[in-house]
Amino acid sequence: MVDLRRLEVKARDGPSDPYALAKWRILNRLHDRNETMYYKVLVDNIEEYAPIVYTPTVGLVCQNYSGLFRRPRGMYFSAADRGEMMSMVYNWPADQVDMIVVTDGSRILGLGDLGIQGIGIAIGKLDLYVAAAGINPQRILPVMIDVGTNNENVLNHPLYLGLKQHRLDGEEYLSVIDEFMEAVFTRWPNVIVQFEDFQSKWASKLLQRYRNTYRMFNDDIQGTAGVALAGLLGAVRAQGKPTVDFPKQKIVVAGAGSAGIGVLNAARTTMARMLGNNEAAFESARSQFWVVDAMGLITEERKNIDPDALPFARRLDEVNFQGLKEGASLVEVVKTVKPDVLLGLSAVGGLFSEKVLEALKESTSTRPAIFAMSNPTKNAECTPQQAFSIVGDHVVFASGSPFGDVELGNGRVGRCNQGNNMYLFPGVGLGTLLSGARVISDGMLQAAAECLANYINEEEVLKGIIYPSISSIRDITKEVAAAVVREALKEDLAEGYRHMDARQLQKLNHEETLQYVKHNMWSPVYPNLVYRKI
Ligand SMILES: *[C@@H]1O[C@H](CO)[C@@H](O)[C@H](O)[C@H]1NC(C)=O
Ligand SMILES: *[C@@H]1O[C@H](CO)[C@@H](O)[C@H](O)[C@H]1NC(C)=O
Repeated sequence: MVDLRRLEVKARDGPSDPYALAKWRILNRLHDRNETMYYKVLVDNIEEYAPIVYTPTVGLVCQNYSGLFRRPRGMYFSAADRGEMMSMVYNWPADQVDMIVVTDGSRILGLGDLGIQGIGIAIGKLDLYVAAAGINPQRILPVMIDVGTNNENVLNHPLYLGLKQHRLDGEEYLSVIDEFMEAVFTRWPNVIVQFEDFQSKWASKLLQRYRNTYRMFNDDIQGTAGVALAGLLGAVRAQGKPTVDFPKQKIVVAGAGSAGIGVLNAARTTMARMLGNNEAAFESARSQFWVVDAMGLITEERKNIDPDALPFARRLDEVNFQGLKEGASLVEVVKTVKPDVLLGLSAVGGLFSEKVLEALKESTSTRPAIFAMSNPTKNAECTPQQAFSIVGDHVVFASGSPFGDVELGNGRVGRCNQGNNMYLFPGVGLGTLLSGARVISDGMLQAAAECLANYINEEEVLKGIIYPSISSIRDITKEVAAAVVREALKEDLAEGYRHMDARQLQKLNHEETLQYVKHNMWSPVYPNLVYRKI
């Protein structure tokens, strides 16, 4: 028996539900026994069970996957299989696979290297693809690439199921991933591969290596950026302005890591697109951001600047004009800039201190927005309580981890929006599948984010709601997927899907595209039995 209590106490981002792990085990058994009913339960109770089959509970599951293991699910490619992967893929029983989620287990949620046990993440994520996007469960494939693990606790555990060696690195590592990609795309040319929870050392390298050749994306990088961008666009509307005013937002960003830079690039590209998509537009969009990292405001004077952050370094004439300097503190920057948005992607819990939030009170915006996007909960830059009580009832607040709404007195509530990746990845996957796009372009991801931002109606957005309710996830996904299909057609990337070629797709209007998407979403219903006599 697994010691439930102990496991739960140990988890760093543990769910607050003391029975979370027990619920996972019951659902997992149902999954093995009666697939249709499992997905029916998931679809009908998505708000309650998404946190069980996926983060945060799945983190507990992965920590002890070898202990919880009952039946195999998914496919394992190990470093010892080099040279054999093509045969392995051709021996997989399914003729058609639409969606693969692959991980190497090197950075599972906030838990780090869990080796082969990370397969739980790929399984959970694909369950959400089925529940939210209606990908057919017979055509999904969770994949674990086992190149070893550097986690000694996992490695020395007597029940560990993976390769008992340290991780491969460098060219050797790349050759394993290359062989896997070639094998799956040879047998299933239309499959979409989503990379999940690869350590940051490899995540963006692999994305750049494959994104122009294969239908693949990385949700940690591209999905997170898209969801944050949708929130930023929603904040503009919540401030009572049209979305086209987005390029005028002054945005102070705390954190210049890969997640932060990903969001910045997406936001800047969107601004530039709204301004005419030329060089002047890009330059003008740049000047809307102030990036502050552990060493303070980043300017041109910064030594050894990360090349990815370089485009966002403030010019000296600008900072001098404002009376700021290289390395200015977050409080100083907020005081001086009086931003519309304070965006936290720092992974530093409590970074938006009382002083910082006090400074934000002087913002020139009618309704400043605070995004405390870092995960897990304890890393959030501030809590919604702090935001509403210090800055005021009117702020727009969003977080990466779940928090409850805040009572403001007199029956009013301060909305806490959660920027959940689940809003976008199912629609990006489904839209790519149904358009038959050769690759997943930045434009397709932008279209997905813009669609999500516009999903909320005017009345809700003025109440400070910038992300919709997860309970309508299938409808959100349908809209997002249709937006992705249309963008793929616009960029001439679509090659059609099954009986629908690109020319026929091109002829569909907005409503017909939605119908086409809906028609292709799988639902958990039992088919009628057919009786036939000889
Ligand atoms: C799954 O559960 C449903 C509802 O209880 C039942 O009708 C169906 O026969 C079950 N299927 C299997 C394969 O057990
Ligand atoms: C994982 O499960 C095994 C077997 O069920 C159990 O003996 C072990 O204590 C568990 N590990 C942790 C970290 O709780």
